[in-house]
Amino acid sequence: MKYLKYKEIANNKEINAYLQKGNANLGQLGFTDHSKAHCVQVAHQAGKILKRLGYSEHEIELAKIAGYMHDIGNAINRTHHAEYGALLANDLLKETDMSLEDRITVIAAIGNHDESTGSPEDVVSAALIIADKTDVRRSRVRQKERSAYDIHD
Ligand SMILES: [Fe+2]
Ligand SMILES: [Fe+2]
Repeated sequence: MKYLKYKEIANNKEINAYLQKGNANLGQLGFTDHSKAHCVQVAHQAGKILKRLGYSEHEIELAKIAGYMHDIGNAINRTHHAEYGALLANDLLKETDMSLEDRITVIAAIGNHDESTGSPEDVVSAALIIADKTDVRRSRVRQKERSAYDIHD
């Protein structure tokens, strides 16, 4: 895989397969929607935040890539999905022309996006954490029964 553009990441077959499986797994657990729609929203918001704050096009691109890939670890396990996702992303991005430095920035952001185990490490990581919290579409809620709601609902 040759790339370094967000667009190619969003159309990557393997990444989208992880997202699809992760979203299906979370559906079984009664979680909100974590599909491609969620990842596109997070990617755009992360980019928008850094653009508004005057960061470079390059940092914006990295935030969008991390934003799109941030939940791929749900394909493996919800608990520690951030860390599993970072490792999956590392394998995927290793096969691209992305620089080692950029790859580490992206995987650190993914690995730290869940506040139960991670914390903001740099601007890309901070933008991802905030962007992840902005996806509050009512259509994300999959539980019909109010008593079964979790924190995301
Ligand atoms: Fe997540
Ligand atoms: Fe998320």
